[in-house]
Amino acid sequence: MKGGYDHFMQKEIHEQPESVLQTMRGRVKFERSSSETDRYRERRIKLGGLTEWLDTIRTGRRIIFVGCGTSYHACLAARQTVEELVEVPVALELASDLLDRRAPIFRDDTCVFVSQSGETADTLQALEYAKSRGALCVGLTNTVGSSIARATHCGVHVNAGCEVGVASTKAYTSQVVAVTMVALALSEDSIAKRDARDAVIDSLGALPGALRRALALDPELARLAGRLAGETSLLLFGRGYNYATALEGALKVKEVALMHSEGLLAGEMKHGPLALVDESLPVIVLATRDAMHAKMLSVIAQLRARRARLIVVACEGDAEVEEACGVDCLQPIVNVVPLQLLAYHLTLLRGHNVDQPRNLAKSVTVS
Ligand code: M6R
Repeated sequence: MKGGYDHFMQKEIHEQPESVLQTMRGRVKFERSSSETDRYRERRIKLGGLTEWLDTIRTGRRIIFVGCGTSYHACLAARQTVEELVEVPVALELASDLLDRRAPIFRDDTCVFVSQSGETADTLQALEYAKSRGALCVGLTNTVGSSIARATHCGVHVNAGCEVGVASTKAYTSQVVAVTMVALALSEDSIAKRDARDAVIDSLGALPGALRRALALDPELARLAGRLAGETSLLLFGRGYNYATALEGALKVKEVALMHSEGLLAGEMKHGPLALVDESLPVIVLATRDAMHAKMLSVIAQLRARRARLIVVACEGDAEVEEACGVDCLQPIVNVVPLQLLAYHLTLLRGHNVDQPRNLAKSVTVS
């Protein structure tokens, strides 16, 4: 069952080059046609469950993504892609908070419910609420026949394969891919977005290779875990697409390694968190080459000036770097891998249960 691995979480982290491919299989055509007209037609994304609804979504008032925990982070990671390609206002909601506020939802809204299990109570209740307000409800789940898949009007199956470890890893990366595919499908008729779509599709094709290269860092992450295992706290800074990576990395560390860790928006650093920084607190900074790179270099300089114990996640090399990383919007999928590996090794070294962290369940079926 664990296919030669010691733990399900470890197996699921290492499966990601295949699981993201599985999510895209039969839906994304990677080859480019030489003819312009064919290229336009062929590079459509096939999401059978959504085809009939694409026009309604495009012409709707807003797209509201709803999820909990890691699934919410996946929505955050892909939000900008939807904003850039589709140009419909995007809102994000934590399911419990949406319910607490009884937030306004309108008949011409589209609500997308993202859930690995498809059984999370808060997400399911938020779905019932959105339905009662007349919104179009789309399900994005990894479990065929789940309650959320059944209760939504239409949806997309994430197809990451069964995830057993309580810590969600391969479902996260596949959820980001799935939301990206939804954005590509919604923008398929836009001539203005054609080049941007092409770049995203090309990078999706390169994703399994990029994930393999990130997984090859495993021994280095095991060594880093050795240096951090005795710490009590860890900060992670990211911005842009990698704000979600910082939140997700911190969630993995706290959930399985039982170490306090906080993911922070780097843009907020000077508005409070900087006070925590000294020569003893380890700080991870996500500074791969994307549109935020220059700003992240400035964050690093400011942290250095405070003698922070810096650990920087960066692209390797120089000239090839941008190609190696792919388009900005897919970087969170690759960048989360070292953080998943770090959380895994920290957990082993701290002597905790990797697959069944205390107090947590794989599906949270009560609110
Ligand atoms: O099954 P869901 O995706 O709806 O679950 C939502 C969260 O409970 C889940 O992502 C949780 O945060 C993970 N265990 C984190 O690794």
